[in-house]
Amino acid sequence: MSTVKLHPSGQEIPCEDNDTILGALEKAGYALPNNCRAGACGECRCKVTQGSFDQGMVMDMALSQADRAAGYGLMCMAKPTSDVVTIEYGTDDAQPKLFPPQENLHFTVVDRIQRTPRMVELHLMPLGKPMRFWPGQFITLGDEANGIPARSYSICNAPNSDGELVLLVTRVADGLTSNWVHDQLQIGTRTKISGPYGTFIGDPSVETPVLCLAAGSGLAPLLSLSGAALRRGYKAPVQLLFSARHADDVPNLGLLKHWQIKHRNFKFRPTLTRGIHSGLQGRITELLPELYPDLSNHSIYIAGSPEFSAACEQVVLGLGADAKQIHTEGFFDQFIPEQPPEERLIS
Ligand SMILES: Cc1cc2nc3c(=O)[nH]c(=O)nc-3n(C[C@H](O)[C@H](O)[C@H](O)COP(=O)(O)OP(=O)(O)OC[C@H]3O[C@@H](n4cnc5c(N)ncnc54)[C@H](O)[C@@H]3O)c2cc1C
Ligand code: FES
Repeated sequence: MSTVKLHPSGQEIPCEDNDTILGALEKAGYALPNNCRAGACGECRCKVTQGSFDQGMVMDMALSQADRAAGYGLMCMAKPTSDVVTIEYGTDDAQPKLFPPQENLHFTVVDRIQRTPRMVELHLMPLGKPMRFWPGQFITLGDEANGIPARSYSICNAPNSDGELVLLVTRVADGLTSNWVHDQLQIGTRTKISGPYGTFIGDPSVETPVLCLAAGSGLAPLLSLSGAALRRGYKAPVQLLFSARHADDVPNLGLLKHWQIKHRNFKFRPTLTRGIHSGLQGRITELLPELYPDLSNHSIYIAGSPEFSAACEQVVLGLGADAKQIHTEGFFDQFIPEQPPEERLIS
């Protein structure tokens, strides 16, 4: 057992042997930003000011050699190797506010719906107590004992009392876990998930107009966030712009149309980049300046591939959005090629 100390607050958190520093923080309810949980995105980067840790295998683009030399580490993969490890993690954002994640929770697949040619919607019911989560968070799912690595999947529904979790999973060419979900996880299969994880969550203190931008299964966390906001009576306009190639690549159209009829402040705007329909045509980044010339008082939520998220973020910043009100969730690949780590131990 080690101790993770937060600087400058001085708060101390226990870190069990074999736990990552991110895992220990989450068990104690701290919302350290994270995304891929696999050393690929760099979201969980922190400066370590005291102690030593094993960094494990991470990608150079997420943690450069210069970062390493300056004492930074990726907390999602870092495990303490000294009794105390001190990390720089601000006082304001270091308040416990997340539900501590749990590992290997048992669920049953109760339904699966093929939403588009490449996307399946999975409904999972807990065998134990419901898992508590915030809208916008994700879980990990896999079958490591049988060679299927645990990957991250955003929860698509808002929390409810029976604990059902809905996921929207895109089949990735040659992807291990997504193909396992599509081909092996059948109705009645018992499976294990871990979570909840992530900090792509709404800010209840904000009541601005909301613009959600999604592509592909990036729609999942935005369905959860929008659904929860509408359910609790959010009054300001909520608009969801969704990019798909063809009309049959738009999932959950029925639910989105229902929200649009039920909630006058909600609008769903699909755009097609290849197919033709009566609505918007073209990439979201090209449409934004005409549709939303002034985003200065909006909260923006963006989810999809890392490239999509980064491109949309650049455009909305150019349209006056406040950087503090832009929230992004890039669906980073967690596949990391096996290679000997250049520097396993940082002290
Ligand atoms: C926070 C977060 C939330 C996410 N939410 C969702 C979601 O809601 N829905 C969703 O569908 N996805 C989501 N993702 C993405 C998801 O976690 C997986 O990355 C995705 O399903 C692909 O996993 P996979 O195991 O199928 O593919 P991987 O096996 O990880 O493969 C990924 C890529 O690497 C390539 N590759 C694999 N093995 C090799 C090899 N040996 N050599 C060379 N290349 C190789 C594959 O061809 C593929 O292009 C999310 C990701 C994050 C980080
Ligand atoms: S590098 Fe740690 S969460 Fe992505």
